[in-house]
Amino acid sequence: MLGGAHNFAVDREIALQIDRMMPGLRAGARVNRAFLGRAVRFMADQGVRQFLDIGSGIPTVSNVHEVAQAVDPECRVVYVDRDPIAVAHSELMLADNDRAAIVRADMRDVEGILNSPQARRLLDFDQPVGLLMMLMLHWIPDEWEPAGLVARYRDALPAGSYLAASHVSADHVGSRMHRAAEMIKESGSRDQLTVRTHAGVLALFDGFDLVEPGLVGCGEWRPSGPADVSDEPMMNMLLYAGVGRKP
Ligand SMILES: C[S@@+](CC[C@H](N)C(=O)[O-])C[C@H]1O[C@@H](n2cnc3c(N)ncnc32)[C@H](O)[C@@H]1O
Repeated sequence: MLGGAHNFAVDREIALQIDRMMPGLRAGARVNRAFLGRAVRFMADQGVRQFLDIGSGIPTVSNVHEVAQAVDPECRVVYVDRDPIAVAHSELMLADNDRAAIVRADMRDVEGILNSPQARRLLDFDQPVGLLMMLMLHWIPDEWEPAGLVARYRDALPAGSYLAASHVSADHVGSRMHRAAEMIKESGSRDQLTVRTHAGVLALFDGFDLVEPGLVGCGEWRPSGPADVSDEPMMNMLLYAGVGRKP
């Protein structure tokens, strides 16, 4: 959806199918990526110098460590993904960066992630952490209790830490998003989409105080220029985006 070389025929096929059904989805992916950059810069501006990015995916443009270390080269980043290909590509990209590393783990293994050698080396849990779950929590079905999982991370982080998250919703695109979820199911992917409402996504920020403008469409979260929004208004609303601070 973002272009680049780190993708496979099977990914391109399903992306094409969904793009046909929801024209402009590529712009939606770009808008999410732009939000990620703004959220990291926002947290860095608040003094955060360490980031834990859960469900980081295959590296693409403007990765978290690139954005954060452009603000301050001392920023440290731990990426987490369960997908071996995402992990392999990330390891290659980070080979020369001693302030960033990736952990291969399922996000449900909270203790394993927080106690991993990478997290122990790079993160100081007495200092605020910028926790990212971008395009991530919709892969966590309700029966896994995503709010409870987020709370376990929140409880391990000190006051002044942040959660930045984006999440698909059908609130503005209606049944097409549910159809996209079905397509992903039919593709046999192990990752299955759970589409949530505004209230459902808001509940995932429990225990964090949302910063202005709250939980809004991705393109509405403090856009700083035309590159941060899509010409297609619906694509700015396809994903909910928010940043919350642990009081
Ligand atoms: C759509 S990508 C998001 C990439 C990136 N965060 C972004 O916003 O561009 C979602 C990633 O979450 C990962 N993922 C899904 N379920 C996961 C889980 N239970 N634990 C760890 N990673 C998971 C997938 O492997 C995939 O790489």
